[in-house]
Amino acid sequence: MKRILITGSNGLLGQKIVELLSRSTNYNLLLTSKQEQSVFDDETLPYRQLDVSDKHEVRKVIDEIEPDIIVNTAAMTNVDKCETERDAAWHANVMSVENLAYSAKLVGAHIIHISTDYVFDGKNGPYDELVRPNPLSYYGRTKLASENVLRTSGIPHTIVRTMVLYGIGFGVKMNFALWLLRELSEGRTARVVDDQIGNPTLADDLAYALIKIMELGRTGLYHISGPDLASRYAFARALADVFEFDQRMITPIKTGSLKQPASRPLKSGFITLKAETDLGMKMSGMKQGLTVLRNQLSVNMREYVNH
Ligand SMILES: NC(=O)c1ccc[n+]([C@@H]2O[C@H](COP(=O)([O-])OP(=O)(O)OC[C@H]3O[C@@H](n4cnc5c(N)ncnc54)[C@H](OP(=O)(O)O)[C@@H]3O)[C@@H](O)[C@H]2O)c1
Repeated sequence: MKRILITGSNGLLGQKIVELLSRSTNYNLLLTSKQEQSVFDDETLPYRQLDVSDKHEVRKVIDEIEPDIIVNTAAMTNVDKCETERDAAWHANVMSVENLAYSAKLVGAHIIHISTDYVFDGKNGPYDELVRPNPLSYYGRTKLASENVLRTSGIPHTIVRTMVLYGIGFGVKMNFALWLLRELSEGRTARVVDDQIGNPTLADDLAYALIKIMELGRTGLYHISGPDLASRYAFARALADVFEFDQRMITPIKTGSLKQPASRPLKSGFITLKAETDLGMKMSGMKQGLTVLRNQLSVNMREYVNH
């Protein structure tokens, strides 16, 4: 039975991975996240509080568990906060990976690490795995640095870049789809950028792809995202359509008008041929993914989302 250590298991992607892996008898799981308590109230899913930026704690847990695979979903994911709180971002996104890599080497573990399209400048997407990164934001720089930690570590690793994740989980922070749903369901109109282009990715699908990577033992770099290349505005309109809101509640605006601290890649997007070929993955398009979300949300959304 493979021993799997998951970091950031209380986050959106972490929760989705746990949900899928816990259905199989092939894995022995250890869930870890920064918080004292696991969001899974289930004694068959053992949990340890673990701040991945703490080298000694990481070493202690990895020495004890001797995982075969570490899935690292923990990260400081608030892009604007990373821009203004750079030390914290470096600790959470880069030093954490150094810590994991150091200890993984001692026990021979394979690391599966999640990165982002924000490693690119968004001048000429969609991008395949061979394009040279050029991050615009500090978040993007930390994620590229974290990739480079693994590339130079000498340990078996897989780097999966993804983008525009959406989905629902217990107490997860707002993602674009959840924010929009809250606005529309409370009767507010939403201003949405029409000049940021990318591939919306259902978190459940990405989790499934990561499990395929585990099962097939794939290493290297993969771009994994949904198949539809769309502006945030187009994604918002698709959401309004699936959830039966009036599309006129959504107004297009430009990214520049938001005056956000961190620059965003505008013309982004992924070419995912490698993942499709190597993993045999078929990811959900926007309509299909949003319909999955709608079905999951038929339980009251307020039980899940932090306001
Ligand atoms: N969301 C996206 O659109 C997107 C796009 C591209 C790539 N990614 C990457 O995908 C991965 C998963 O993202 P996500 O959307 O699931 O993010 P998320 O919901 O924010 O989950 C990340 C989790 O990691 C935890 N965490 C932060 N710092 C930690 C630390 N030092 N030690 C242990 N846990 C820590 C967070 O806790 P707190 O909430 O308490 O900080 C949170 O529970 C990340 O690597 C992210 O960079 C995400």
